[in-house]
Amino acid sequence: MKTLLLHPDTEDAIAQAGTLLAAGQVVGIPTETVYGLGANALDGAAVRKIFAAKGRPIDNPLIVHIADFDQIYDLTACVPEAAVHLATAYWPGPMTIILPKAACIPDEVSAGLDTVGIRLPSHPIARAVIRAAGVPIAAPSANLSGRPSTTTAAHVMEDMEGKIAAVVDGGACTVGVESTVVSLAGDTPRLLRPGGISLEQLEAVLGTVEVDRAIRQQIGDDVQVSAPGMKYRHYAPHAPVTAVCGDPARGADYIHAHLNPNAGVICFDEFAVRFPTQIVHTIGRSDDAAAQARAIFDALRAFDHTAVTEIWAQCPDDSGIGLAVANRLKKAAGFHVIEV
Ligand code: TXA
Ligand code: MG
Repeated sequence: MKTLLLHPDTEDAIAQAGTLLAAGQVVGIPTETVYGLGANALDGAAVRKIFAAKGRPIDNPLIVHIADFDQIYDLTACVPEAAVHLATAYWPGPMTIILPKAACIPDEVSAGLDTVGIRLPSHPIARAVIRAAGVPIAAPSANLSGRPSTTTAAHVMEDMEGKIAAVVDGGACTVGVESTVVSLAGDTPRLLRPGGISLEQLEAVLGTVEVDRAIRQQIGDDVQVSAPGMKYRHYAPHAPVTAVCGDPARGADYIHAHLNPNAGVICFDEFAVRFPTQIVHTIGRSDDAAAQARAIFDALRAFDHTAVTEIWAQCPDDSGIGLAVANRLKKAAGFHVIEV
């Protein structure tokens, strides 16, 4: 299959993407978080093509993307008041709400669960494409399963060229890590995946929010997890990663003392001078977690074009969007984490 690269400066590209989606094809779509691999969420056969293109385990459910809030009532069995409050505060934006699903959601989307994740993205191209398709769009991140997520159209082409119908090029994603996944399907709100909306922001609206264990530590294969995606090794470059958490200056000292000559380094801007002979990808200053979020996946992907044999990565603390950056890095490291 030839994968079309569509440039959305013309109305035509949006219409073309919408037509392909309505016809049951898979299209790469920019969102403010990461690029998504979209298909008609109401068409099980179209959704199966996403799993095939990604090589994704079928027990891992997909998020359904909508362009207007009211679509949520067609896709869910009930919308609690807390969901309306969250949506009022943070939609359109980088947050997914898990709710009991409506009967129209195919099993392929919910992976056999009785819930569905819904997201109203803020990216104008994402919303224009959803409207053009005329249906809600199921979309996981547009990477091969297990690889770092994609934050540019070039990343999507790297993983998906020849496997999907088209990619809409919307430039680099402005958030850079995936949406926050919060479940309102149980008795207490529960954070399943940290993302563009911070835990503190959720608590400001919801009060108490439980934090899933899988966010900060490795979960064994035999343990039931709330977000099936959290149990897989994820975001991993080819070379093994070690994440170094704690005071950034002490972390830089630790890496400096332990790296081998062929190591790559992911570090905060101010520490790049410590590693003059290594391949280094900086991800922003240590106090700028938003910049780190935008840079992290590109940095993780970039080493696959080099011969580095190990990667050392400085990891931010858990405040704000730092919780999401730290979670992605720890997962990329298979939870091989050093605390300094
Ligand atoms: O920002 C994002 O969320 C991006 C863009 C494209 O919107 N999408 C994304 O999708 O990151 P994906 O499939 O890569 O990650 C979705 C995560 C997975 O960990 C999955 O297990 C979880 O959300 N998830 C989806 N539906 C769920 C459900 N009904 N219950 C629990 N977890 C769910
Ligand atoms: Mg993903």
